Amino acid sequence: MKQVHKKISLAVDVAGIRMKNPVIAASGIFGYGEEYRKHFSLNHLGAIITKGISLKPHLGNPPPRLVETTGGMLNAIGLQNIGVKALIEEKIPNLKKQGTPIIVNIFGTTLKEYGEVAKTLDGVSGIAALEINISCPNIKKGGISFGTDPKEVFKVVRTVRKAFSLPIMVKLSPNVTDIRSIARSAEEAGADVLSLINTLIGMAVSLETRTPRLANITGGLSGPAIKPIALRMVWEVYNTVSIPVVGIGGICNARDALEFIIAGASAIQIGTGQFVNPQVTSEVIADLENYLKINHLTTPADLVGTLDTATGKGP
Ligand SMILES: Cc1cc2nc3c(=O)[nH]c(=O)nc-3n(C[C@H](O)[C@H](O)[C@H](O)COP(=O)(O)O)c2cc1C
Repeated sequence: MKQVHKKISLAVDVAGIRMKNPVIAASGIFGYGEEYRKHFSLNHLGAIITKGISLKPHLGNPPPRLVETTGGMLNAIGLQNIGVKALIEEKIPNLKKQGTPIIVNIFGTTLKEYGEVAKTLDGVSGIAALEINISCPNIKKGGISFGTDPKEVFKVVRTVRKAFSLPIMVKLSPNVTDIRSIARSAEEAGADVLSLINTLIGMAVSLETRTPRLANITGGLSGPAIKPIALRMVWEVYNTVSIPVVGIGGICNARDALEFIIAGASAIQIGTGQFVNPQVTSEVIADLENYLKINHLTTPADLVGTLDTATGKGP
């Protein structure tokens, strides 16, 4: 008898953000897409997230602001950016030509600023969604206090919700005791999607000078070292809220991505992995398709949240 092959599609729809596959370039890795675009097209990606943007340009922290660590890296860039006006006028028109959904990552140092950045971006052609960074550990004002207090999270998300009409994704900080209460607040305030995790606060010391290796003293840890923590948090949040979850943290290959999807992520973001291997996103997309084929599945949605915790132990 002739075998019928079911057609595989990697396409996903995450709360109205339609993507050709679930692989997203994380915020802060390739700026506004320009450096990467010189080497290869960004058209293969499910979506691209731009560097965190604020109302006015930010200079960021003084160097040194990057340190390699075991299984990861620390960064203390401090949200350096060109400001929302320049993003709209100078960067979005070029990025739009790539034909990939653009998600703009935003932050503010006050509630009002979050609202104003969101309002400025509302209705701008080419933008598919906002990702609200309530979790950057590197800025002195705002950032961390918004992301660690459920009441503040509610206020920020509500403010952005009122100012922006397309989907909003809220990016959660792992630097909290109970990420579920933060997730619940964001959902109640009107978030369409939750993305997690941002970096974990860490530090490194130079033995030669007995000084911190970062000028900012502390920085955000990312890369494979944080993957098990990120995975645990994605699983906790997936089991707490009813909106979709996007997984981030140390993803370097399709096996990592699949772990997040099985734990509950509807899509995934790749950050530090792109520094190590600039081709990582294309490789993950190809290998995800192979996994679906081998396992007789037709869409990544078939796998989301399929973690079997009752049977337990696996190899
Ligand atoms: C150099 C660098 C810059 C980053 N900038 C931002 C940013 O502007 N906004 C944001 O929300 N996250 C930012 N992040 C966090 C990443 O988007 C991601 O959440 C984190 O690095 C964990 O994922 P990874 O292990 O795949 O890198 C940055 C990370 C790095 C390494």
